[in-house]
Amino acid sequence: MRRKLAAGNWKMNGLSAALGELDSLPTNLSNCEVLLCPAATLIAPMVAKAGAALKVGGQDCHANATGAHTGDIAAEMLADAGATHVILGHSERRADHGETDAEVAAKALAARRAGLIAVVCIGETEAQYKAGDTLDVIRSQLQGSLPQGASLANTVIAYEPVWAIGTGLVPTTDEIAQVHGFIRDELAAQFGQGMANGTRILYGGSVKPGNAGEIFATADVDGALVGGASLKAADFGAIITALDAA
Ligand code: PGA
Repeated sequence: MRRKLAAGNWKMNGLSAALGELDSLPTNLSNCEVLLCPAATLIAPMVAKAGAALKVGGQDCHANATGAHTGDIAAEMLADAGATHVILGHSERRADHGETDAEVAAKALAARRAGLIAVVCIGETEAQYKAGDTLDVIRSQLQGSLPQGASLANTVIAYEPVWAIGTGLVPTTDEIAQVHGFIRDELAAQFGQGMANGTRILYGGSVKPGNAGEIFATADVDGALVGGASLKAADFGAIITALDAA
């Protein structure tokens, strides 16, 4: 049984005062875990404030544990601050910093070394979607971005069509089901049926309170990675409640 996961990605938003949003998130959940990934500056204070109510993660890490890499952060540092997860290969990292699949795989190894769960993001661009290349892109990103030894214990997959991120556009639930089912088949081919059955596959891209219910009712969707709507407790709370009820 896969435990559902509502994950929030605050991206480059949020000063200390934003931690007040945690006060009104739902508690007493029976079926789902909640993860919030704030800017690195807020990880330790968020962990201190949230306690066991939610998991806290980073948004990126370097592949190395230490070294002369100004401005980067090691997976060990995230863990030391209390993080349990790290988002890797987000499309904004891939676009803004030219991150390749091989770099994402190296970072996923670093996450494992530090005891973090890697939330590995994959997804096609609008041009690739329009060209009908979605499944080919997903296959090659999965093959390139997951290191050997990836397991359901140390990996979560987030399917995030680039054209759906921050745009208000969302694939149909049939399209989401098709891609998520395909991801599961690819995981089976690469890592075996146990990994395929047990790995949580999140959908991300313009998840809002108004569409969360139908997305969570879609086959092979085990939760969401939520950007903009995770910044406000009212919206993220409604999404969490919808997932817990799904
Ligand atoms: P969005 O972002 O929910 O604002 O579309 C999702 C993401 O980038 O993870």
